[in-house]
Amino acid sequence: MVGARTRHFTSLADLEPDDLERLLADAASLKRHPVPEDAPLRGRSIAMIFEKPSLRTRLSFEMAMVHLGGHAAYLAPAEVGLGRRESVADVARVVGRYVDAVVLRTFAHETIEEFARWSPVPVVNGLSDVSHPCQGLTDVFTIRQRKGPGRDVTVAYIGDGNNVCHSLLLGIALAGQTLRIATPAGFEPQPRFRERADAIARRTGAHIELVGDPRAAVRAADVVYTDVWTSMGQEQEYERRRRAFQGFQLNAELLALARPDAIVMHDLPAHRGEEITDDVIDGPQSAVFDQAEDRLHAQKALLRWLLGGGG
Ligand code: CP
Ligand code: NVA
Repeated sequence: MVGARTRHFTSLADLEPDDLERLLADAASLKRHPVPEDAPLRGRSIAMIFEKPSLRTRLSFEMAMVHLGGHAAYLAPAEVGLGRRESVADVARVVGRYVDAVVLRTFAHETIEEFARWSPVPVVNGLSDVSHPCQGLTDVFTIRQRKGPGRDVTVAYIGDGNNVCHSLLLGIALAGQTLRIATPAGFEPQPRFRERADAIARRTGAHIELVGDPRAAVRAADVVYTDVWTSMGQEQEYERRRRAFQGFQLNAELLALARPDAIVMHDLPAHRGEEITDDVIDGPQSAVFDQAEDRLHAQKALLRWLLGGGG
């Protein structure tokens, strides 16, 4: 199969716990020294092919390549027409002749998997309908930065069992920590991600729990995490979701149940006044903008891991 030996990052399940530790250590070193003098990716390049909008993923990958001495080319949602203007297999084989890695943001996760099957160069999942591993990797890094290397960290995720939740599940499982997830009935994370996380947890000692009540999830937590109730591509479900998620808002009352030194996380963009209130996202416990910055450091480590270049 074409590209069978190429290392991809389409899911956090592509990592072993040791890989995660190595990436976290490299990200910490890159956070201290953001622009390595030896320009480890000089002459190297990535393409970013996006079917959905992006601020953080696009800009952090572009700047990551600048800091590492390489170049990034962005192809906007209207340009490539993956699977419409041209087959996914053909695009993958052509793009791999020009660049050293590809970051893909798609609706269907199968598009990323098919691209990876044909791509002669590493493929990075920059978000699909079911997962967001660059975010999950960063989230584990931000938690490590704020809470230290111990495994005795409890993360509460409140809201939709979506792409961000799936990748957090795998990330916390790899890190060997505790995750309590509270979603409304019918919006739980998909069983295949829970099963995968449980299999990893058996090796790392992580604890993963689904609880119905957001208050039970948040009580005495070290980290309280939420994401939008309506993700990109679900806009027609907005009203139904807004009603279903009442009681799952991260507000001051809910946050008061967490540990006093708990941090608040959100991958952004936020729908303020829906899943999170202004006073919480802008309050003293919010780590949200550090978390956004950490995308840059974590993805630089990821690029070095995929492309070589030390670290
Ligand atoms: N968190 C995140 O991936 O943001 P963007 O959609 O702006 O890239
Ligand atoms: N769950 C959100 C994440 C955005 C980064 C979405 O898919 O729209």
